[in-house]
Amino acid sequence: MSGFYGFLFEVYPYVCLTVFLLGSLIRFDQNQYSWKSDSSQMLRAGTLRWGSNLFHAGVLFLFFGHLVGLFTPHSLYGIFMSAGTKQLLAVVAGGFAGLLCFIGLTLLLHRRIFDDRIRHTSHPTDIAVLVVLWIQLVVGLITLPYSLQHVDGSVMLILADWAQRIVTLRPVDATAMAALPWPYLFHVVFGMTIFLLFPFSRLVHVWSGFATIGFLFRPYQVVRSRRLNVPAGYDMPGQPAAVAPMTSKIQERRL
Ligand code: HEM
Repeated sequence: MSGFYGFLFEVYPYVCLTVFLLGSLIRFDQNQYSWKSDSSQMLRAGTLRWGSNLFHAGVLFLFFGHLVGLFTPHSLYGIFMSAGTKQLLAVVAGGFAGLLCFIGLTLLLHRRIFDDRIRHTSHPTDIAVLVVLWIQLVVGLITLPYSLQHVDGSVMLILADWAQRIVTLRPVDATAMAALPWPYLFHVVFGMTIFLLFPFSRLVHVWSGFATIGFLFRPYQVVRSRRLNVPAGYDMPGQPAAVAPMTSKIQERRL
């Protein structure tokens, strides 16, 4: 399919993914001191605790829900669950997480706009990110009643097929996407736009959040003994003579 929808569902996803991946890499390489989520807790803790915790709990559930929901092939879950059941699960679980996220995000947005201290110290992208996420979340919640109108899960299958084809570089059916009701179209296109804006905002901290999982598999701490840090051939008083050859071996290895 060519034209407007062809661009939106066949070309735009790759534009967004390229900017997302390359942009994040370039920012990490060129500007590491800007790679942070700029906590505002010291300026005003207040609603941040409830807002940030509710928002993060909700958004992380939604993120992984979208990941599993969109990218698990139907042939895999179809063995023990129909598409309709999976959609119902997504609507109920996603609806609950979406509600938590909505409360948290609204608190964060309210605080950032109406608290003078926070507003004056915010970068324009800090506010823009919250507005963009808020709109995306609200439209996502608007899709829920639409999904309940076709309980066979047919729309979910069209969306999942499109997403799986995009990431596996296979041709997509933009015509099927274009025929969906407006909240789905908006949600998909705006969602891709979030990936496009990602490297230019504080959202880059999400990479680091996920990277902390690597901490679980980190190598053991390397501890150097001060005892061995002596010139080669020098017998330290009170130490066994074997220390000296060991030290010279270490120095040889360093050379
Ligand atoms: C991966 C795990 C994550 C970790 C560890 C994490 C951590 C943090 C931290 C420490 C802050 C600063 C809170 C403060 O002001 O003290 C923050 C703020 C923020 N995070 Fe995350 N985050 C994660 C995932 C996400 C995700 C998936 C999103 C959305 C897509 C997100 C969006 C935001 C936003 C918009 C703010 C700013 C909130 C404000 O206006 O104060 N985070 N995050």
